[in-house]
Amino acid sequence: MSKNCVLLLLLTLFFLVKTAHSDPRATEAALMCTNETALMADRQTFVANFLATMDAVTPQIAVQRYAAVVNGTGNNTVYAFGECMKDLSKQDCDVCFAQCKTQILRCLPFQKATRGGRLFYDGCYLRYDDFNFFNQSLSAQDTSVCGGTGFGGNQSVFKDNALRLVRNLSLVAPKNDGFSVGFVGQGNETVYGLAQCWEFVNGSACDECLADTVERIGSCPPKAEGRVLNAGCYLRYSTQKFYSNNTSTAGNGGRRGLAIILAVTSAVFAVVLSIFSVAFFTRKKILKRRKGTEVWLEVLIDSIFKH
Ligand SMILES: *[C@@H]1O[C@H](CO)[C@@H](O)[C@H](O)[C@H]1NC(C)=O
Ligand SMILES: *[C@@H]1O[C@H](CO)[C@@H](O)[C@H](O)[C@H]1NC(C)=O
Ligand SMILES: *[C@@H]1O[C@H](CO)[C@@H](O)[C@H](O)[C@H]1NC(C)=O
Ligand SMILES: *[C@@H]1O[C@H](CO)[C@@H](O)[C@H](O)[C@H]1NC(C)=O
Ligand SMILES: *[C@@H]1O[C@H](CO)[C@@H](O)[C@H](O)[C@H]1NC(C)=O
Ligand SMILES: *[C@@H]1O[C@H](CO)[C@@H](O)[C@H](O)[C@H]1NC(C)=O
Ligand SMILES: *[C@@H]1O[C@H](CO)[C@@H](O)[C@H](O)[C@H]1NC(C)=O
Ligand SMILES: *[C@@H]1O[C@H](CO)[C@@H](O)[C@H](O)[C@H]1NC(C)=O
Ligand SMILES: *[C@@H]1O[C@H](CO)[C@@H](O)[C@H](O)[C@H]1NC(C)=O
Ligand SMILES: *[C@@H]1O[C@H](CO)[C@@H](O)[C@H](O)[C@H]1NC(C)=O
Repeated sequence: MSKNCVLLLLLTLFFLVKTAHSDPRATEAALMCTNETALMADRQTFVANFLATMDAVTPQIAVQRYAAVVNGTGNNTVYAFGECMKDLSKQDCDVCFAQCKTQILRCLPFQKATRGGRLFYDGCYLRYDDFNFFNQSLSAQDTSVCGGTGFGGNQSVFKDNALRLVRNLSLVAPKNDGFSVGFVGQGNETVYGLAQCWEFVNGSACDECLADTVERIGSCPPKAEGRVLNAGCYLRYSTQKFYSNNTSTAGNGGRRGLAIILAVTSAVFAVVLSIFSVAFFTRKKILKRRKGTEVWLEVLIDSIFKH
């Protein structure tokens, strides 16, 4: 019964998001989960701390577009960090983040007490972990994601444009509050790009992080899309102009729709959380009926999150 309820809410949500005028770029670039899990004895504390950080993240995002939260003590401390790309409007930032927050549950912080996860969207970013990673610039999980169809025109010109662009972005961003957008080339050989370092990755750490993205992105052309997803920064190029160079865009009649989207997203998040929390805190009962309930939960998670 509550399963149908969640699905209905989600359908409403996707419908609303599709018809909204804004572009929160709530498209997934990558989800990375650690394979470390909390010890059995610590799970209850870990889950409570995780929930507390997720609760605290949203109000900070609403005020300053990034959030850094620490909750818990000792081995069960949970660190969470989130930030929007700086070209998003405040409304788009809130929408992107609300969706990002529901999707990070795919790392299974409740079922498996997974101790860390990162979710890169093209408009926002959320990570939680069991150590202070707030100013970390590089990590072993750093990766590039290339996509789209191959570029159809002159490939050597395209590659040259892409590399010139990312080099320029990586030099400009550290001196420009950790952010830059731009394009190189003409006509259908134009390449557009965006680079951003996270809030606490500034100065030389931002330099270092973006220099690494320039190395990694080289494998992407002639693909039409390239992204590098590092611990401390994000870089993307595309044949489409995906960024906005106008942050002061007013919500043209989208405010009501936005309020509804946020309300529905929060409701979905709350419902999902309460299902998982109940499931978690009555774990002993579940274990006895494992084949029934846990399989049911996994089916639910799949149906919610694989869209
Ligand atoms: C975690 O994943 C890494 C890489 O995928 C692997 O090398 C390591 O053995 C895994 N650790 C555990 C405890 O499963
Ligand atoms: C962790 O979250 C709980 C619940 O919101 C709160 O009472 C507590 O003060 C937080 N602890 C820290 C260290 O922020
Ligand atoms: C924290 O975890 C480590 C290993 O995982 C363990 O050796 C240590 O005793 C733990 N510390 C506390 C305070 O639980
Ligand atoms: C990163 O933060 C830690 C703890 O807050 C601090 O000790 C360290 O010096 C910082 N590193 C850099 C490179 O800023
Ligand atoms: C794009 O560039 C290629 C090669 O320069 C050219 O053949 C093609 O006509 C161009 N397409 C458009 C839509 O301009
Ligand atoms: C691509 O452009 C370069 C420079 O304009 C030119 O030298 C080269 O012949 C072109 N290659 C193709 C396949 O058109
Ligand atoms: C980056 O490109 C812009 C626009 O083409 C140019 O004005 C600027 O000098 C370049 N900066 C660097 C560091 O290359
Ligand atoms: C920003 O937008 C204006 C107007 O559309 C455009 O002329 C300009 O080239 C854009 N700048 C960048 C860096 O994309
Ligand atoms: C980086 O930013 C933080 C806060 O945003 C600030 O406290 C710190 O001094 C900055 N570090 C550098 C090297 O600019
Ligand atoms: C930038 O914003 C101004 C006013 O807010 C608007 O008139 C203009 O069309 C916008 N440009 C772009 C490229 O969105």
